[in-house]
Amino acid sequence: MTPLGRIAYTVLVAFIASLLTLLAIDWLGPAPDSISEAPHIEESPAIRVINMEELDRHDQPDDCWMAIHGQVYDFTDYLPRHPTPAHLLPPYCGTDASVGWDTKGIGRPHSPRARDMLPDYRIGVLAADPTD
Ligand code: HEM
Repeated sequence: MTPLGRIAYTVLVAFIASLLTLLAIDWLGPAPDSISEAPHIEESPAIRVINMEELDRHDQPDDCWMAIHGQVYDFTDYLPRHPTPAHLLPPYCGTDASVGWDTKGIGRPHSPRARDMLPDYRIGVLAADPTD
């Protein structure tokens, strides 16, 4: 190889090496797109722990909380929309209404549509019973 050819060859090798280095840096570093597409973590309000004593204080039709399977719901706004005579739900306000929910008082469970409504009214979790 002539001296000129050797220089040209060295320059070519150096060029390819630096190109590969740049590519490697690009691949290894986080791509800007993947940062902006990272799953967005919803900011959910802190889950409140509510004990029976607090639940019990919300036992009126105009202030109606119920516990259902360990979750606490504020159904005050929903009560007038429930498709039964108005007197049916208030007795469950301020109580653990799991059985009422499961059976509707007539031995039949609520529909999946009714179940899907629950999260909208959830305000916390029921504190574990200390006597359990
Ligand atoms: C916990 C006490 C409750 C009792 C005893 C109760 C009872 C009943 C009864 C007797 C019916 C009519 C009968 C029937 O459609 O089969 C009914 C229907 C219904 N209830 Fe309730 N309910 C309760 C709570 C709730 C709550 C908290 C919701 C919603 C968040 C709800 C949503 C519905 C809906 C959407 C229907 C129409 C039928 C269905 O989708 O199952 N109920 N409920």
